[in-house]
Amino acid sequence: SLKVTIIGGGSSYTPEIIEGFMNRYPSFPVTEIVLVDIEKGHNKLKIVTSLAKRMIQKSGLPIKLSYTLDRRKALENADFVATQIRVGGLDAREKDERISLSHGVIGQETNGAGGIFKALRTIPVMLDIAQDIHEICPNAWMINFTNPAGIVTEALLKYSPHKKVIGVCNIPFNMKNSVAEMMDCNVNDVEIEFIGMNHFVFGRSVYIQGEDRTAAVLEKMLQQNVDYSPANIVSIGWSETFIHALKMLPNPYHQYYFQKEETLEKDLTAFKENGTRSEVVKQVEMDLFEKYKDENLDVKPEELEKRGGAYYSDAACNLMDSIHNNKGDVQTVNTMNNGAIPDLPTNSVIEVNAVITKDGPKAIASGHLPLNIKGITIQMKAFEELVIEAAISGDYLKAYEAMVMNPLVQNEKKAKILLDELLEAHKDYLPQF
Ligand code: G6P
Ligand code: MN
Repeated sequence: SLKVTIIGGGSSYTPEIIEGFMNRYPSFPVTEIVLVDIEKGHNKLKIVTSLAKRMIQKSGLPIKLSYTLDRRKALENADFVATQIRVGGLDAREKDERISLSHGVIGQETNGAGGIFKALRTIPVMLDIAQDIHEICPNAWMINFTNPAGIVTEALLKYSPHKKVIGVCNIPFNMKNSVAEMMDCNVNDVEIEFIGMNHFVFGRSVYIQGEDRTAAVLEKMLQQNVDYSPANIVSIGWSETFIHALKMLPNPYHQYYFQKEETLEKDLTAFKENGTRSEVVKQVEMDLFEKYKDENLDVKPEELEKRGGAYYSDAACNLMDSIHNNKGDVQTVNTMNNGAIPDLPTNSVIEVNAVITKDGPKAIASGHLPLNIKGITIQMKAFEELVIEAAISGDYLKAYEAMVMNPLVQNEKKAKILLDELLEAHKDYLPQF
């Protein structure tokens, strides 16, 4: 038997991961899937469950699927636990985005002030989940999508007794796919050497069928102004000089750091027109759930591609498949550095190519950070560590330091204003403060 428990199973993304399991059934034969959510998500959970059941029934595969609000029960005998939760829901995200924008800083779910507060809300809850896993199904691998995925994964690996935790994101996957599209080749022939952290990762070199094609890919990127950004980020493109100097593939989130003013302006305009991303997503979700309710629907609807996390399930399912089958292939994951990037703390999480076996990921050495990204990468990692310390301790000054040292804030007075307002706005979800 092979059991997967999905925490946050009521998410609108769930049909995608269900489809991922069905597609991989020959190599990864899941026998049981349990979707778990909290009382507040009960209704969504029921709707997603019936759609998932119709999808499975259509496929004729012998997969048992059920839902529950009893997390501990759901974890019994689990082999894999996928975590995809959003503490405080989209309302909390909206506050992060709005309050940041109202003080003239970027308002984003995983970056800047919003990212800090998402981490502060989420880390304690994720530690509880990991504790349950440790007690109930200690051999299970926890596959974490919960954002900020890199920071959350690091907090778990540092502070939870459960060590079988791997963080995943669709960005590296998207980058590989768009290189394949750009270079008109098969995605399986594309290898990107990643260096950095989640949502702050660079594609250091690109190999196509084993040949280093980094320069060609960068030129193509400039020529075609390729947009490999997910639905939540509108790409504004990069200048030739920036790309020629960087000599690496930036990821879409880098706009927030290297085109700070332009991105802020663009986001403020979008905000005035359509509200925050959270409000847009709320509408997309409502439409999706209306679709899901349709008894005749038995496939994943295309509209799911309007979510930034589209294709997240490929990353997750490939990972579970490789662990289960002890494949030894290379995948991009969030895992302990352990010296892979000697310039970053050994005991910190990076987003890196790793060999995946039944024992989990083994990071492949990336070597030193290139000088042009060394300073900011070290700063970002130190910032992430501050956020984790703040989330664990509930120490006001640590949270303040995290805010000050974040490149999107980096202003001592603004940091305090943002911190105080966000602490107040989110107080129901911040018991540690
Ligand atoms: C990207 C990120 C995910 C994030 C998503 C947000 O794909 O990699 O970590 O959750 O975007 O998308 P949304 O549709 O919620 O704005
Ligand atoms: Mn991500």
